[in-house]
This record gives sequence, C-alpha cells and structure tokens, in this order.
Amino acid sequence: MSFIMKLHRHFQRTVILLATFCMVSIVISAYYLYNGYKQENELSEISSELECGDLQLLPYKLVELKTVKPIDPMRTDPVVLVFVESQYSTLGQDIITILESSRFQYHIEIAPGKGDLPVLIDKNKGKYVLIVYENILKYVNMDSWNKGLLDKYCIEYGVGVIGFHKGSENSLQSIQFKGFPFHVHGNLGVKDCCVNPHSPLLHVTKSSKLDKGPLPGNDWTVFQINHSTYQPVIFAKIKTTENLPLPITKNALHATVVHDLGLHDGIQRVLFGNNLNFWLHKLIFIDAVSFLSGKKLTLSLDRYILVDIDDIFVGKEGTRMNVNDVQALLDTQNLLRAQITNFTFNLGFSGKFYHTGTEEEDEGDDLLLGSVDEFWWFPHMWSHMQPHLFHNESSLVEQMILNKKFALEHGIPTDMGYAVAPHHSGVYPVHVQLYEAWKKIWNIKITSTEEYPHLKPARYRRGFIHKNIMVLPRQTCGLFTHTIFYKEYPGGPKELDKSIQGGELFFTVVLNPISIFMTHLSNYGNDRLGLYTFVNLANFVQSWTNLKLQTLPPVQLARKYFELFPEQKDPLWQNPCDDKRHRDIWSKEKTCDRLPKFLVIGPQKTGTTALYLFLIMHPSIISNSPSPKTFEEVQFFNRNNYHRGIDWYMDFFPVPSNVSTDFLFEKSANYFHSEEAPKRAASLIPKAKIITILIDPSDRAYSWYQHQRSHEDPAALKFSFYQVITAGPRAPSDLRALQKRCLVPGWYATHIERWLTYFPTYQLLIIDGQQLRSDPATVMDEVQKFLGVSPHYNYSEALTFDSHKGFWCQLLEEGKTKCLGKSKGRKYPPMDSECRAFLSSYYRDHNVELSKLLHKLGQPLPSWLRQELQKVR
Ligand code: A3P
Repeated sequence: MSFIMKLHRHFQRTVILLATFCMVSIVISAYYLYNGYKQENELSEISSELECGDLQLLPYKLVELKTVKPIDPMRTDPVVLVFVESQYSTLGQDIITILESSRFQYHIEIAPGKGDLPVLIDKNKGKYVLIVYENILKYVNMDSWNKGLLDKYCIEYGVGVIGFHKGSENSLQSIQFKGFPFHVHGNLGVKDCCVNPHSPLLHVTKSSKLDKGPLPGNDWTVFQINHSTYQPVIFAKIKTTENLPLPITKNALHATVVHDLGLHDGIQRVLFGNNLNFWLHKLIFIDAVSFLSGKKLTLSLDRYILVDIDDIFVGKEGTRMNVNDVQALLDTQNLLRAQITNFTFNLGFSGKFYHTGTEEEDEGDDLLLGSVDEFWWFPHMWSHMQPHLFHNESSLVEQMILNKKFALEHGIPTDMGYAVAPHHSGVYPVHVQLYEAWKKIWNIKITSTEEYPHLKPARYRRGFIHKNIMVLPRQTCGLFTHTIFYKEYPGGPKELDKSIQGGELFFTVVLNPISIFMTHLSNYGNDRLGLYTFVNLANFVQSWTNLKLQTLPPVQLARKYFELFPEQKDPLWQNPCDDKRHRDIWSKEKTCDRLPKFLVIGPQKTGTTALYLFLIMHPSIISNSPSPKTFEEVQFFNRNNYHRGIDWYMDFFPVPSNVSTDFLFEKSANYFHSEEAPKRAASLIPKAKIITILIDPSDRAYSWYQHQRSHEDPAALKFSFYQVITAGPRAPSDLRALQKRCLVPGWYATHIERWLTYFPTYQLLIIDGQQLRSDPATVMDEVQKFLGVSPHYNYSEALTFDSHKGFWCQLLEEGKTKCLGKSKGRKYPPMDSECRAFLSSYYRDHNVELSKLLHKLGQPLPSWLRQELQKVR
C-alpha cells in the first residue's frame, strides 16, 4: 500500500514540476514572441505610418546591432573585390571611380554567369576585405558550389558584401531572392526619400532633411523585408499608383537601401535598390565600404579647404570687384568661419593691373588693399604672364621683383611661401627657371596645379616635391573667369546647384582630405558666384555630412598633405608633348625630341660597353654626351639625378637632325636592377625599346668583383671572392654591401619581370652576352632589326677579332683596330670550382624562373642557362 502511495505522490510531484516548467516556457516564449512581433511590427509601422522627419524622433534604435561575427579586418588584405557586369558597364565604372577617388585598392573581375570565383585566400590570409557585386543577381543566382565557397570565405574572414539591384525593362516586378528572407519590387518610381538616422553604417553621412519630391528614374527597387536582420538605411515612398504589387502601398516608407546585419547567415550585406546615380547612394556606399571593411577602408572626417582667388587686379572693366563686392567678400569670409574653422580667402595678385578698372572698381581695389590683413596673399606674376614664355631666369626674376615691390609698397605680406603661376605654366611640366626664380625672390615653398599628372580625370591628380617646392594638386569648382552671372552658368544655373548639392563639387570635398580650389577675381564681382558657391557648399556639407571643415595656411596645408600622402613626394616625369595642355605650357625653346628612342639597361659586366661601342658605329644611332660624374653614363632613371628634372636629362642629348630616322639612346647599366627605373622610364619614354644583355650570373658576379678590385675598392681588396659571396647577415657592412652589388643584379627573372610590368614584351630585347662576345655581327643584325633602324649597317665588315685584345673590335682604316679600354676584357684568374659550385646553387631558383620566363616570351635559352638547368636535374 505504502508503495502505491509513494508512487502516487511521486507522480503528483512530477506532474506539478512538468506543469511549472511548461508555464515558465510559455511565459518566456510569449515574451520573446511578443518582442519579435513588436520589432517586426516596428519596421512595418515605419513603413506604413511615419513620415521622414519622424524617424529622427524615434527614441530607440530600430534594431539592436548584434553581428554574428565581428569584422576582423586584420585577417584580410585591404583590397575590395569588385564583380562588374562588363569592363565598360556604367555602374561598375562608378564603383571603381569612388574606390579610386578614395585611394582604396581594388581588384576587378567580370562576374561570370556561373559564378566562378578568383582565388580568395593567400597563405591563410583573405585576399579581399570586401566584395562588391554590380549586379546582385549574379551573387544570388550563383551555383550552389561557388555560393557555398564564397559564403564560407565571408563567414570565416568576416567579409561583407555590397550589391546593387536595378530593375530593367525585362526584369520582373516582384521577386524573392533565392535563400534570402525578403522580396524585392523593381521598376518603381520613388519620391520623398530620407536616411534612417539610426543606421550603424552612417559615418560620413549625416541624416538630414531632403526636399520632398521625386527621385530621378523609374527603375528603383524597394526591399520588402520580413526578418529583423535587415535594417533599412534609406527610405522612400512609391511615386506611381498603377500596377503596384500587392504588399506595396503608396504612402508608406519603403527601404531602397538595406543593411543585412548578418543575423540570418553570419554575413553582413548592404543592398542598394538602384545604382549610384543618386548622390545619397554614393555617400551611403562610401559609408558601407567603411563599415563592412571594419574601418580599414575609411575616410577620415577632417577636410581642409583653401580657396584661392587668382587674378586679383587682373580683369576687364565690368568684371572686377567694386566696394560692395569687397565688403561682401569680407562679410562672407566671417560667415564662413562658423562652418569652416579659420576660413580665409587666399588672394593672388598681379600688381601691374592695380587701378585699371572703372572708377567703382578702382575703389574696390583700394578697399581690398585697405583690408590687407583680413586675407592671405600670394604673388601671381606682375603682368600675369606665363612663366614658360621667359627662357631666361633673369627676366622672370625682374617680373617677380616688380610684383614684390608692389606688395611691399601696399603692405601686402610677402612671407606666405605660396605662389601660383598663371595658367599653371612652368609648374608642370616643370620650367626649372620658374622654380629657381620663385625661390630667389619670394622664398616660395608651395605651389599648386591641376596639371599633374594630368587635368583629367581629376581623381588621379597628385602632388610632388621638386627643388624643395611642394606642389599640391588643385581642384576646380566649376567657376571660371567667364562665369560671372548665375543665369548664364553653362548649361543653366541648375548645373551649378547640382554640382554643389551632391554633385561634382560636393564629392570633391567628400573624397579629398585636402582641396585647394581655384577661383578668380571675376567670380566675386557681379553675381558673386564664388561667394554663392562656397556658402552653399559649406551649408550642404554641414547638413549632410559629419565632415569637419577647416582652412590652414599654405605652408601647414602642404606639410599636412605630404604627411597624408608621403608616397607622392617623388615626382614621375612624363613627356610634355604627350598631352596637348602640357605642350601648350612648354617652352617653345625646348623640344621633346631630345629623348632616347631606346635604352641599354645592363646589367653591368655583361658586355654593355661593347654593345655601346658597336651601336655608335651605326650612322643613325646617336648616344648621349658623356657625364663626367657617373663614368660616362647618365644614370637618370635609377638614382637622384632623376630629381634634377627632364631639362637636365635632355641636355645630354643632341637635337636630332631627322627625328624619324635618328635613334638617340643611352646606356646606363645600373637601370637593370633598379626598383624605380622601369616605372620612371615607362612614364617619360613609354615607347622606348629596352635592351638587356645576360651572361651566366655567376660569371657576372665574378667579373664585378674583379672590377671592384681593380678600382681598389677596400672591401674587394680585403676579402676573397668566396668570402664576398658567402658572407652571412652578421658580416661587416662594407662586405655585405659589396656582396649585394655582386649578387643582386644576377636575379635576372625578378628584374626582367619588373621591366615587363611597365613595358610590353615586344619592346624588350634580351641579348645573349656570350654570343655578343663571340659573334657580335650576328647580334648586331638582330639589334638593328629589333630597333627598325636604317640603313642596314654591315657589322661583319666593320668588326674584326683582335687577337691581342682577345675580343672583337672596330676595324679602322688601314687595318687598325679600335678596341675597348683596359678595364673591359680584363685578365684575371678563372673562378675556382668552389665558388662556382656555390653560385650555381645560389642562382638555381633564379635561373629556373628565367628559363620559364624566356619560354613564355618565346625566346631561346642561352647555352649557359641550358647547362645550369642540367645541373638542377
Ligand atoms: P671582363 O672585363 O670581366 O672580361 P660591361 O661593359 O657591361 O661592364 O662588361 C664588360 C665585359 O664585357 C667584360 O668583362 C668582357 O668580358 C665583356 N665583353 C664582351 N665583348 C667585349 C668586347 N668586344 N670587348 C671587351 N669586352 C667585351
């Protein structure tokens, strides 16, 4: 009995426990269900009831940001992988433009139908920090194998995805993306757009009030979401009523950009329901890149702006400033200081034209000078002449002295260190006379130009330092000397407003940490478009971005610039005649014809001097004049001579009597292994042909060592060849330096590959140094063919073997010979077998790489290389 009682009690207890557990579960589930329902409802409520302005008032975040896996940018390289539809697709180019303008690295792939992927991982590190699909459908509809791989990569490396969905005439109105918990409704017109102020994406973007009204185009897509992982970033209402898909209501706010927080499958995404034509999408795209890259690809919020007013006192009557205009300039400057810290107009003057306007305008000149201390000032050339027209430095100096005298007479400060040349003349392409004169008279340290490396595209403009003068890029703001009246603005006044309000000018500020804007005196008279532009620009930037605007004096600005972009300090010279704008500001007394058509790049000790001697025997081939400093070689592209500029380089070459048939060239055997030379040469003489000579790198190293010994290099005299080539990392520095110069040029494949990244293969000739030594006439025939030089020169008749010298030499009249000097073809003991074995092994991998490269280039392997490769087997 008691057993039955016990069992009964036990049963009772169990039932009570179970019931309690069930109750608790029900309560918990109800709580979460209710909350989930509330959250989803919050989103749909926003969709159906709120107006844009109300979003600001929401007391809570729409959805808490709980990402599944925090983004870890250290696990990936800072490179964006962009899948475009084609090389020329507009949106693809817009994406690239923004990445380039932001100076972010990217890699483009054409998105293939099936979804094949490039290699994503390299040595356990992700190759891409972010993936962008121009067409999101290519991502969504990828075959499951590739999708699986990509998802795995994204989850493993915390990589996000950005995608665009843009309706087309043929696309369906409503679709559900495979595997995604939302619908998209395409081909819609939208209006009354606003930004979700609570979106965690916002960095540069500040949510602000956009004028009500339609957005351009009827190809918008809105996202209908039913999962709390999606957070709307931009909302808009639907414009048209007809044919609306069922769940879409006309007056509700719908998301045109959504942020997938990754709660669904661990991958964060930002999806755009259109392209980047709408400026706010561009801004959000910049923020999405920043957010999804874990701030690795992010723009700072500091923006430095300097507004130059060139041509002060220059300008025809009727286009200049009168007293009221100058007063407005002063007032606006004060006004702007509220938005742009320390804002000060920077006035560039040409003293010669002082008081050359109407009576009212002359009074304007006087008020400007009466307010000297309110502005910053810089010299702009006394008579507004273009400096490149002055060939003599002394006449430039005279002009500058006149402007300086004017400045001193009128109390204009002369120590700002900044100057601007009319029409960019002389700054780039460099007219060295201008740089020298500027330094002498004005102690100039900074200038700016739009022309480096080219005016267009503006996003490629860069700075450089030459002769200790810092050259900063200069931006345009859509105002030119003749843009004087608002109504007459080219294309209509709307164009100017468009540029300011989310257009070109606005994005110039967004994408450039430092902008120097060029305006002119005439932009501040009449309709004062200069003031109009910068006041409206500052307002717009302040309303829509979190950017902090400020102005710095030019010297500080330039320092800041090169702190931000130290890699830009070194210039990269180009041929001034390859760009019409550059040619127009290039001195008529200078020519672009004094540049080589080909280079003999080395390496040293392979027979380069012999080749040089043979080349100059040809009637159409002309070398540079010798440089006393660098053993006759110019050595321009490899070292600091490059900083002397192209005038210095060109001075080594004669003006050819016939540009098309004469072949100027120079031989600098150090170019071969130089890190900089290929890039620099390709920039200045992109069409030049390149000749290199190769011998067994072990023999080259030994010849170099012997060369150093005969030049009494202390390290070469002190250490044996074996000691040099086998020296370890702790060896004395002079020994290490000698070792480097012995061995590094022999890494042939590495150096040739570098040249081939800048020059096409058909511009490169690789000569077998052994053959040059034993059969120079055949090699010279090959060289002539490669160069396309005429007339054909018969080297079989012009060269002879000199048994005394032991080398081929030039045959002179009466059977005499002209051979290379004592330093070429030296007598020294052969390399010992120990050294040879060491070097054979040292160069093994390099030689294997070289053989692969020659094979790829379709070139025969020289005999020494074949022998070395046999040793490998
Ligand atoms: P060695 O002096 O060690 O024999 P470079 O001019 O590039 O410094 O190369 C010098 C090497 O060119 C010499 O090295 C020599 O072997 C080789 N050479 C090839 N043809 C030659 C020639 N016709 N006259 C002299 N040296 C020649």
